Amino acid sequence: MYLTRDEERVLDGEAGPGPQLAMQILVKLGDILGAEKLIPIASAHVSGISYKTAGDAAIEFLKELSEMGAKAAVMATMNPCGFDERLRDLLRLPTEIVEAQRELLSLYETIGLRRTLTCVPYYELRPRSSSHLAWAESSAVVYANSVVGACTNREGAPSALAAAIIGKTPDYGLHRPENREPGLRVKADFEPKDELELWALGFLIGALSKGTIPLLEGIRGLSDWELKGLGAAMASGGMVAMFYIQEPSLKRRSKSTRDLEVVEIGRADVVDVVERLSASDDPDLVFVGCPHCSIEELERLAVLLRGRKVRTDRPFLVCTSRYLRDAHPSLVEAIEASGALVVVDTCMVVSWIERLGISVVATNSPKAAYYLPGLSGLEVRLANLEECVELACSR
Ligand code: F3S
Repeated sequence: MYLTRDEERVLDGEAGPGPQLAMQILVKLGDILGAEKLIPIASAHVSGISYKTAGDAAIEFLKELSEMGAKAAVMATMNPCGFDERLRDLLRLPTEIVEAQRELLSLYETIGLRRTLTCVPYYELRPRSSSHLAWAESSAVVYANSVVGACTNREGAPSALAAAIIGKTPDYGLHRPENREPGLRVKADFEPKDELELWALGFLIGALSKGTIPLLEGIRGLSDWELKGLGAAMASGGMVAMFYIQEPSLKRRSKSTRDLEVVEIGRADVVDVVERLSASDDPDLVFVGCPHCSIEELERLAVLLRGRKVRTDRPFLVCTSRYLRDAHPSLVEAIEASGALVVVDTCMVVSWIERLGISVVATNSPKAAYYLPGLSGLEVRLANLEECVELACSR
């Protein structure tokens, strides 16, 4: 990979051992993936923030890195961690876990990352269309590429962190316009009846895409929160980092797609996905907000929960970002009047909810349904937003 004279100096250690290590990571990655050069990025979004998934190895690595003087050179944000104050109390987390999580967060802060602790950083700090980013967190990557029109590969935690420190990323993959063309047409021959069917469709598209960028046809008029969940589902069903949807507002390409392979998906296929991912038992806990709830979802929840009471034996957790929670106190108040809890900074997939001694959770997120059994040993019942509210409230 070609390096400028300044980049060579960083690689030679002239800027200190921290930047040198970050540059070594980027150069190694760029060489393996065939990048010709590094390009500047507008921001980095780093995953591996929860102590539950990152563990002691991350603490040791970050300690070393911060002692080496590594500092973020561009705006860098953090994915969710393992708990907020409320979840800490609800889960009765032991002091060792609480302390370890705090240490991890403060190390990231020392390196210069902002304590955003959300998988929807784009609601607080929206990237510009066409800007280059180095984002980890697959759901945020697919949103950035497909909805915002920015350019990012699906980074891992170390490469996103290295890119944050250098302020650059190797120029390959989705940073190159020639790699942003669709490779598969997906025709949905039905109108999803709710967000769950839409997101299950996304999960199936993810599994079918096999490294290509899908172009979804036949679905129109999706709102932002539906697109957010659609991308997250595609990214968990497969390695999708970008999609197109045949809709004027999202069209960003002009080349013909006539010769592409076409896959047709019907409602029965999607119902099958929901059944495969979903348990039928009654849930012990209900949660929504994977990815973190947008304002639109908070508004819908406030309406759905008006005059309702959440069961005392079945907690209802609404996950969102601290930024959105603090910006919309009346919505939070309306939701919590029902007994639901709005939690921030964390998500159920990277927290320790199994400590509640529960076995089944209900949610509307196929991504959570895919990951929770492996990460927490819990069964998941999939239900749409309205059904989640019903499950949380009715006896
Ligand atoms: Fe976000 Fe956690 Fe889901 S990071 S996308 S809420 S698994």
